[in-house]
Amino acid sequence: MNPIVLLKDLSILKGNRTVLDVGTKDGAIAKRFADLGMEVDTIDIHPLPEPIEGVNFEQIGVDEFLEKNDKQYDIVVCRHVLHLLPNPKEVIEKLNGIADIFFFTCFGPQDDWADRVSILEHDEVLEMFPKETVRHRSEAFQYGTTYAGDTKFWHINTFVIKN
Ligand SMILES: C[S@@+](CC[C@H](N)C(=O)[O-])C[C@H]1O[C@@H](n2cnc3c(N)ncnc32)[C@H](O)[C@@H]1O
Repeated sequence: MNPIVLLKDLSILKGNRTVLDVGTKDGAIAKRFADLGMEVDTIDIHPLPEPIEGVNFEQIGVDEFLEKNDKQYDIVVCRHVLHLLPNPKEVIEKLNGIADIFFFTCFGPQDDWADRVSILEHDEVLEMFPKETVRHRSEAFQYGTTYAGDTKFWHINTFVIKN
């Protein structure tokens, strides 16, 4: 799900200035926020293929970043990254702690990669947040294409938290 489209639909995009995109890969999402005139910080363990105007990039893992970061962000995005981490719930909690609005996804148990990535049940994530802060939650089951071009079955949980 595209975070900008979803945040617009929820009427919570307007008025926000600062964004952190965790696991930005090629910076495609970050660029869209920058195009809206927002101040965008991005991190990834791998290098950004090429610099993007208006986007600050740091090559760093999310755990290390969280240890040294002292900034709060209007919006934190962490899409399709948590399944790659050994401690996804800890990272969810910490990223939520530096976010006013927190958009994130995680993979559920029916995902084709369930035996080799970190999986989180929809309800166990939901339990982490006070009910009134959960502005969106959805569970998608669909065939789709990976970055490598392979077809796989995706089980994707998406959440938007407004603190
Ligand atoms: C599947 S891509 C998702 C890219 C983008 N967020 C999106 O939604 O299209 C996962 C990205 O997370 C990055 N990543 C993996 N482990 C990470 C970590 N510990 N800290 C920061 N980034 C990480 C990978 O290098 C990769 O660029």
